[in-house]
Amino acid sequence: MTQLTIALTKGRLEKQTLALFKQAGIDVSFLQDKQRKLIFTSPDHRFTFLLVKAADVTTYVRHGVADLGIVGKDVLIEHPFGYYEMLDLKIGTCKFSVASTKNYQPNDYKRKRIATKYPTVASEHFRKKGEDVEIIKIEGSVEIAPVLGLADAIVDIVETGTTLRENGLEIFEDICPVSARVIVNKAMLKRKRQAIFQLIDGLENVIEGGETI
Ligand code: PRP
Repeated sequence: MTQLTIALTKGRLEKQTLALFKQAGIDVSFLQDKQRKLIFTSPDHRFTFLLVKAADVTTYVRHGVADLGIVGKDVLIEHPFGYYEMLDLKIGTCKFSVASTKNYQPNDYKRKRIATKYPTVASEHFRKKGEDVEIIKIEGSVEIAPVLGLADAIVDIVETGTTLRENGLEIFEDICPVSARVIVNKAMLKRKRQAIFQLIDGLENVIEGGETI
């Protein structure tokens, strides 16, 4: 039996990911009531799950500590190297948008300051439009940047739209949709090919509405 180590994104995506694994016939009950523990091995020793921050999923997979990872496309765009992206799980769906306060003038000729946790996504978006902007990288609570005058607008993830609304912002432009992906370490895809594809096929069957493994 081939053992697989899987890095999962802690937090928002965690519940939906585990539900998907369960539907694919993988017993994840040992992850319930987990309290502050971060490494879990299934009773049959087939799977080890690591619970890590989204951006660290790519690091664990790139270094081969995890064979696979489950992480949002938003993170993959910012950390694009050292793994294969294998499957869109169609969970954790949201989008990248440009947002600001209602008096924002996207088409005036002023050089815009754009606050974001996602500098690659933001600069690529404005580069494609032929617009020269200043990117201001911040780590969170991005929505307050235009309100406080740090930036003219933000590029951020919008899921329900609640954070924008509650901070008096609105969407001016959608950039692209985002969802969770399965990524795989390049060397492990060769070494553990059968086990990895068995898992991926099982997950794919569930999301396509087919039979569970
Ligand atoms: C993300 C994102 C938005 C919010 C969008 O932040 O950066 O702030 O979620 O979700 P909504 O449209 O459902 O309101 P996160 O919760 O990860 O927190 P952070 O700002 O501290 O990074």
